[in-house]
Amino acid sequence: MNHSVLVTGSSGRIGRAVVAELQRRGHRVRGFDRVPFSGLADTFLGDLSDRALLDQAMTGINCLIHLAATPDDADFLEELVPNNLVGVYHVLESARAAGLSRAVLASSGQANWWQQTRGPLPIRASDPVSPRYWYAATKMFLEAIGYGFAETHGMSVITARLGWCPRDAGQVAEIRASERFQDVYLSPADAGRFFAGCVEAPTHLRHAVVYATSKPRRQAIFDLEAARTLVGYEPQESWPMGIDDQK
Ligand SMILES: NC(=O)c1ccc[n+]([C@@H]2O[C@H](COP(=O)([O-])OP(=O)(O)OC[C@H]3O[C@@H](n4cnc5c(N)ncnc54)[C@H](O)[C@@H]3O)[C@@H](O)[C@H]2O)c1
Repeated sequence: MNHSVLVTGSSGRIGRAVVAELQRRGHRVRGFDRVPFSGLADTFLGDLSDRALLDQAMTGINCLIHLAATPDDADFLEELVPNNLVGVYHVLESARAAGLSRAVLASSGQANWWQQTRGPLPIRASDPVSPRYWYAATKMFLEAIGYGFAETHGMSVITARLGWCPRDAGQVAEIRASERFQDVYLSPADAGRFFAGCVEAPTHLRHAVVYATSKPRRQAIFDLEAARTLVGYEPQESWPMGIDDQK
């Protein structure tokens, strides 16, 4: 079945890969971002604070992939609050009003940061969280309201705790220097496959929290079993495959 998918953050590192994979599979894709990207004609250009524009963008959509956010620690009041907290409020309320049946929300492996070095491994979604800092705390807010939406409104909500898909050469160098970071690497193509699996997962899936990385090279830091069984995700790459894939 083909879906109509709104991808927020569609111009970003992961967003571009997700758009490409959804298009390849024949889904109808619309973007929403505050910066343009030439690879997707049907894109709403604006900020998550613009509820009226979000409402327009949701028209005719049945599945949301919410990626737009400040993707790491940054000034809390200036960046994280408007983008990662207030933005989540607007996008989810807009999705609810438009009657979307599924929302896929981008959380982060930073939700359980300290267990990555202290163990036990691999980390499962059922393990207690250990957020790294303010950015990870905003993802806890996202995860919490995702659960609330699934229970309160019956929306199917999949929360994705993502591994590390580097956005620039500096991040690539950081991953190259660390075996642990290589084991949580998420290639753009695997990210695309993962999110496409979330879109295509059975409609009866009401709520799930899953980890997504590429194939670990040495040790599984995150348990990928839930992603395998619930959304049919099978990573096909491992570090450093795909790092030059900067479309
Ligand atoms: N890349 C990673 O390693 C990684 C790991 C874990 C989680 N994530 C999460 O995945 C998502 C995508 O990350 P990414 O690496 O592609 O980041 P990115 O910065 O490349 O892309 C984010 C996009 O969101 C847009 N955006 C941000 N705030 C916005 C706003 N207020 N209104 C409209 N657009 C806005 C940006 O313009 C950008 O194009 C984020 O939610 C991030 O927290 C990423």
